[in-house]
Amino acid sequence: MSMKVILVDDERLVRESTAQWFTICGFEVSSYSDPLKALAELSEDFDGAIVSDVLMPQIDGLEFMQRVHQKSADIPVILLTGHGDVDMATRAMKLGAYDFIEKPYLPERLSERLSRACDKHRLLRENNKLHQHLASLQGIEATLIGISAPMQRLRAQIMRLANLDTSIVIYGETGTGKELVAQCLHEYSERQKNNFVPINCSAIPENLIESELFGHEAGAFSGANQRRIGKFEYADGGTLFLDEIETMPMFVQVKILRALQDELIERLGSNKQHKVKLRVVAASKEALRDHASFRQDLYYRLNVSEIHIPPLRERVEDAPLLFDHYQRIVTADHNLSPRVLSSEDISALLQYSWPGNVRELKNIAVRFTLDNEQNIADLLQGGSQQGGEALDKTANGEALSVNTQNTAQPLAEQVANFEAQLIKNALARHNGSIKELMQELDLPRRTINEKMARYAINRGDYVSKS
Ligand SMILES: Nc1ncnc2c1ncn2[C@@H]1O[C@H](COP(=O)(O)OP(=O)(O)OP(=O)(O)O)[C@@H](O)[C@H]1O
Ligand SMILES: [Mg+2]
Repeated sequence: MSMKVILVDDERLVRESTAQWFTICGFEVSSYSDPLKALAELSEDFDGAIVSDVLMPQIDGLEFMQRVHQKSADIPVILLTGHGDVDMATRAMKLGAYDFIEKPYLPERLSERLSRACDKHRLLRENNKLHQHLASLQGIEATLIGISAPMQRLRAQIMRLANLDTSIVIYGETGTGKELVAQCLHEYSERQKNNFVPINCSAIPENLIESELFGHEAGAFSGANQRRIGKFEYADGGTLFLDEIETMPMFVQVKILRALQDELIERLGSNKQHKVKLRVVAASKEALRDHASFRQDLYYRLNVSEIHIPPLRERVEDAPLLFDHYQRIVTADHNLSPRVLSSEDISALLQYSWPGNVRELKNIAVRFTLDNEQNIADLLQGGSQQGGEALDKTANGEALSVNTQNTAQPLAEQVANFEAQLIKNALARHNGSIKELMQELDLPRRTINEKMARYAINRGDYVSKS
């Protein structure tokens, strides 16, 4: 990826030698003796940086910079000032110069600053693109965020299932969004006119669970002073969300099964039956099939459709967008401006294994936004809600670890790591099928082969052995 630079200096010798140096350093240089000409040819979409002399006959460097910023405020401008001109340097920074460098300067110093400026501009542009992307999202895309192929498939699946009557079980690790998916299933169906009623099966004491679900009449048991409507009745015409269903006691499982089959419930202490018609969406962290403490007849009644939400580490390409999403919410709530992520921050997001999934990422995003001092690697090392668990396994058993040392990896290396990770994730999802990989990544076979060779990725490692 070449970095573009526009160089403006009216002194021919200086201009030519500087341009030559930049070319040696790998920049793509356009040089101008006249700042007005540079301005005329400058596009708003320019994605590099500008280096300009201050003293020039047509307009001075400060004026030039301000006109550049009228085109795009994000373009970094480095000004070359006379030696010891402190006033000028101060003014330059106040007016929005990215940096100023005193003449005569060390070429290495200038090229190093320039490459940082280009990097920063690129990140800003990517960040703006993310913002625009987020702002343009609507409907379920704005609720269930993610650009990865599994998230796109998940949203499509939800929209297909929303208006059916079948029961659904949602499987996924903690914090992957099971409840959010259940809400979407409700929201995008005709049932949204009625209630979405969540109930966490593991949070209710065993002796109260029946009355929670089915309600009771006054005097049904000691302490039952008033008649109470149960969750099933509240959810009539809507959606009942049975969270952590794997923890439901067996004796209640029988009753739920009966209520669903007959579409009738009986409040405790009453022998009158009430008709209820609702959709059940259940969530489980464990497989329910052949589960020792889960009735298989209820399993078959509930598990008509299944939704699997992959853990965040298998779709880590969603992390930056989710992070930006939560930054937007926090900044709006607290009237702050968002912090721009450095490339180290982004690579920390992409390399972490996220054992607490989206919930953990959300916590990190909130803390990052509210605390200007800490970068993402610091926050991850400090431990988010998962007690700082830094290592976890990916689907194919590969250990991912946090980039905790804040080493500034060169950009090209970070991009390569990210790309390699994307390919590995996609291979794991498709059981090593190159054909499906080509479709998902929309790349020709030759490019995929080249990249896999370059990153030493072995397809065989992703073909499931079972
Ligand atoms: N794709 C997503 N887009 C936006 N927010 C998400 C996404 N996935 C999860 N979240 C958010 O992450 C948090 C955790 O999600 P949720 O409570 O649905 O997870 P869960 O799977 O039910 O977790 P648990 O098993 O621990 O109950 C919520 O604040 C939810 O809004
Ligand atoms: Mg939940």
